[in-house]
Parts: sequence; C-alpha cells; structure tokens
Amino acid sequence: MITVIGLGFVGLTTALGFSDKDYLVYGYDTSQDKTERLRKGMVPFYEPYLDEKLNQYMNNRFHIVDDLKDAIDKSEIVFFCVGTPSQADGSADLSYIFDAAKSVTECITKPQFKVLVIKSSVPPATTSECINPYIESLGFKVDEDVGLTNNPEFCGRGMPGAIL
Ligand SMILES: NC(=O)c1ccc[n+]([C@@H]2O[C@H](COP(=O)([O-])OP(=O)(O)OC[C@H]3O[C@@H](n4cnc5c(N)ncnc54)[C@H](O)[C@@H]3O)[C@@H](O)[C@H]2O)c1
Repeated sequence: MITVIGLGFVGLTTALGFSDKDYLVYGYDTSQDKTERLRKGMVPFYEPYLDEKLNQYMNNRFHIVDDLKDAIDKSEIVFFCVGTPSQADGSADLSYIFDAAKSVTECITKPQFKVLVIKSSVPPATTSECINPYIESLGFKVDEDVGLTNNPEFCGRGMPGAIL
C-alpha cells in the first residue's frame, strides 16, 4: 500500500495513477478545504480524465484520510508531493517537506521500515544534503530505519503519475 502526502496536481495524479495500476492508495492533505472538495469528487484543476478516475476509485482503491497514523502503518511507501515554492533568493522553500516528514516519521513505529519518496521538485543534492540530515535529526537513520529516495515529477506518459 502507498500513502501520498499532498493532494495537489502532482499528488492527486500520482495517487490516482497508482490506483489505476491496482494499488491501494491513501491520500493525505493538510488543507481541509481541498480534501472536502475531493471527497465530493471535485478536482480543482483540469487534467483529462482525472475527475473520472477520482470518482471511479474513491473509497475503494483511493482513500482520503484524516488519520495519517493508520495510513502510514499500512503503507510500505510514502510519496511526498507537497509544494516547494521558490524564495526571494531563488532557493526552494523546504518547509512543507520538513513539516510533512515530521508528521510522517511521528507515525512510524520502529522497527517498521518505510520507503520515503520525495516527488516534490527540489534542487540537485537537496535530498541527500538537506532532507536526509533532517530525517536523521528526527531519530530515523536513513537506510536502517527508513529508506529515502527521490522521484521527481515530470508528468510524462509512462511515468507513475501519468494515467494515460
Ligand atoms: N504542478 C506541476 O505541474 C508540477 C510539475 C512538476 C513538479 N511539480 C512539483 O511538485 C510539487 C507539488 O506541486 P503541486 O503543483 O502538486 O503543488 P500544490 O500546491 O498544488 O499541492 C501541494 C499540496 O500539498 C499540501 N500540503 C502542504 N503541506 C502539507 C503537509 N505537511 N502534509 C500534507 N499536505 C500538505 C497542500 O495543501 C497542497 O494541497 C512541487 O514541488 C512542484 O514544484 C509540480
């Protein structure tokens, strides 16, 4: 099972893309407004067939959850699809990734091993030089307690996020 953190354009397409490949997917977003709309089958942006897929998989192969702990307990892989907006100096704001990583690791009961996948766009080496040390500062040794990898979103045909 898979949990997707952040249900914006990248997270929702990734989640429903995996549902379309028969995976059971949990989706989590801190925006209650967004999750309420999605639960009503309303996709807040245009992507061909996505509203159809949302309605097809909602509450069977795709579950929007409020209880992150239960979703993380049941998942082997967690995709991080939160925003990484550019700051005034051109660097990426990693605060959403850090917040999400903290929420997720708080839900991991050792010795469960989860693979954490950064799908958000980050500059080269950010995962190894910034996110890895941050996760280790939370008490999780990378490669022993959790896996950590990067799978940047390109939304191309054949990528995991692409439905078609
Ligand atoms: N949109 C694109 O076409 C595109 C293409 C390639 C890469 N990207 C990258 O993918 C990432 C996501 O982009 P997007 O367009 O989907 O962003 P978005 O802003 O549409 O969605 C991000 C979602 O994350 C949620 N969120 C923020 N903090 C959270 C937390 N701690 N826990 C759970 N949810 C949280 C927000 O509420 C929001 O719904 C960014 O890094 C972006 O640069 C986007």
